[in-house]
Amino acid sequence: MIPKGALSLKAGGSVLELHDIRKSYGAHQAVKGISFAIRSGETLGLLGPNGAGKTTTVSIIAGLISPDSGDVQLDGHSLGGDTDPLKARIGLVPQDLALFEDLSARDNLAVFGALYGLKGPSLDRAAAGALSFAGLVDRAKDKVKTFSGGMKRRLNLAGALLHDPDLIILDEPTVGVDPQSRNAIFEGLEALRARGKTLLYTTHYMEEAERLCDRIVIVDHGEVIADDTVAGLTRRLPMRNLLRLELEDPPAGAWVEELAALPGIASAHLESALLTIGLAELGPGSAAVLSWLTVRRIAVSHASTERADLETVFLALTGRTLRDE
Ligand SMILES: Nc1ncnc2c1ncn2[C@@H]1O[C@H](COP(=O)(O)OP(=O)(O)O)[C@@H](O)[C@H]1O
Ligand SMILES: [Mg+2]
Repeated sequence: MIPKGALSLKAGGSVLELHDIRKSYGAHQAVKGISFAIRSGETLGLLGPNGAGKTTTVSIIAGLISPDSGDVQLDGHSLGGDTDPLKARIGLVPQDLALFEDLSARDNLAVFGALYGLKGPSLDRAAAGALSFAGLVDRAKDKVKTFSGGMKRRLNLAGALLHDPDLIILDEPTVGVDPQSRNAIFEGLEALRARGKTLLYTTHYMEEAERLCDRIVIVDHGEVIADDTVAGLTRRLPMRNLLRLELEDPPAGAWVEELAALPGIASAHLESALLTIGLAELGPGSAAVLSWLTVRRIAVSHASTERADLETVFLALTGRTLRDE
């Protein structure tokens, strides 16, 4: 666990710093003291399950909502909310599409541009670049309502880049996107990275975080529960392998805890009929688990194994899986 309020970076190297951000909706504490920092040129993944507080956190960074307490600093200056001129350095790609269905792609970009005072030739230049980035040059004049989900996502992304921000925040940009558009989005993000942009990427898909991000901040229930590189996170695990067993008819009782306490077994979790076991050594560990289950007449209908990944890290930290429920 990372102590509350601690930053993973030394002062000076970071573009963005969050200090102990808190936000409640009524009695519900959505964000309970989040702190982290992003270095210039870094791609940071904000990874957590639905409801973890990712959108609330990035909406606070982008000045769309104000925190109850805490401080957001961009290059060492505290951000003062929606009208702060520093905000022009940030581009937010919102989780919910912010597009006008009855306007063309080009006219939608004009609306985005107007938010940042872009018009005339500078808008033309920016819009042409954005349409090309989104792979929508030949659809520029078509109404957005004729677009696929993936095309809308790409246009939504392009709109946030029109004013050439240094820090680009993407809130679950691939939800509801076909594989082809997902690849196009990833390639676009890799190109932005190569141009030295700083990216903050929220997702509940750990494969995306593993593929794109230099560093991962894992949030759960409004708190940071880990902040490290992917390699650093998996190195810390007591288990290197996962054994997943589908049980035919799992009995009630505290047997899962008993199983977890066996030597060589780092963790054991049962979610409906799926038993997930963390093992340091796959061979001896699997043998021990299977014979233990056999003795208790707990039948296994399917078995698979996996190498430790971010899912494993999340499971080890929270006892839950990160998947879509
Ligand atoms: N406008 C709102 N009013 C009330 N509750 C909200 C609102 N927005 C988010 N929440 C709640 O705050 C928590 C965090 O939500 P959110 O930041 O959207 O999480 P995430 O983006 O990680 O899925 C959730 O429990 C969600 O239901
Ligand atoms: Mg969200």
